[in-house]
Amino acid sequence: MTDQLPRHTWLEGPGVPCPPHPDARARPLRIVLLGAPGVGKGTQAELFAERRRVCQLSTGDVFRAAKAADPCLRTPALEEAIGYMQRGELVPDATVVDIVKERIDCLRCEGGFMLDGFPRTVAQAEVLDEILAAEKVRLDAVLKFDLPTGRIVDRLSGRRTCPSCKSVYHVEAQPPTQAGVCDKCGHALVQRDDDRPEAIRVRMQAYETSTAPLVEYYASKGLLVSVSAEGTPEEIYARAAAAVEARKAAAAAPVAT
Ligand code: AP5
Repeated sequence: MTDQLPRHTWLEGPGVPCPPHPDARARPLRIVLLGAPGVGKGTQAELFAERRRVCQLSTGDVFRAAKAADPCLRTPALEEAIGYMQRGELVPDATVVDIVKERIDCLRCEGGFMLDGFPRTVAQAEVLDEILAAEKVRLDAVLKFDLPTGRIVDRLSGRRTCPSCKSVYHVEAQPPTQAGVCDKCGHALVQRDDDRPEAIRVRMQAYETSTAPLVEYYASKGLLVSVSAEGTPEEIYARAAAAVEARKAAAAAPVAT
């Protein structure tokens, strides 16, 4: 990404502070992204980060950054989490919650945040509610992206990512200018371990069993906004950004008496 926000605290841990937010908004966006693996959450989070200066807080990126780091620096919990991720299974709630709590400064960021991949279970969502209530921070919306399963599998099997700057490509739909090389930083692109067919099957099952119940959880709180993930990333971004603005306007409107 050309204009990615630094994310030091999120990716490297609480001992590594980010510089002050370059463009803190008077009314920051605070959003949760929901949707099956490969539906395009990370792609949309990148666009929101670029256009709206909102930090993409992906728990998957934390685990992948830990995998790329010096093994001596990994905690036993992170070591264990990497194993779950490679198999396509969900990392245990307690580990994920500890990792997010360690990075609580990111939820306080005056630029807002885009939670990508967290929460992923109702238990995680309940902890997030407690954290946000203690911080007196409210979510603006939970964006749920919808796409038929066959299209999702195509997106996952063609995905290539940059292990250095985390940019995401697709061999057909979003190819880099030079095959196999990141446009943003020149690093060689890789295929994620969990984009193998057997891991994709496990991830889809984990989504249906553990994450899909969050749709009802957030709908009952009036936060859920469904967005079709058909079309180009730009078309989806336009729909998602308009839906967020409509939700914010509705939340700010005075209640008729
Ligand atoms: P995570 O990194 O969160 O993965 P995920 O949810 O499976 O989502 P993905 O990153 O695979 O997909 P995406 O929706 O972001 O799609 P993308 O934009 O890349 O989690 C990985 C693992 O970590 C989990 O399996 C688990 O083990 C662990 N984990 C993480 N958080 C956890 C938690 N809270 N609790 C427990 N465990 C946790 O797009 C996909 C492809 O499609 C790309 O190639 C892209 O270029 C392409 N594409 C995107 N949009 C379009 C479009 N409009 N048209 C055509 N192609 C497109």
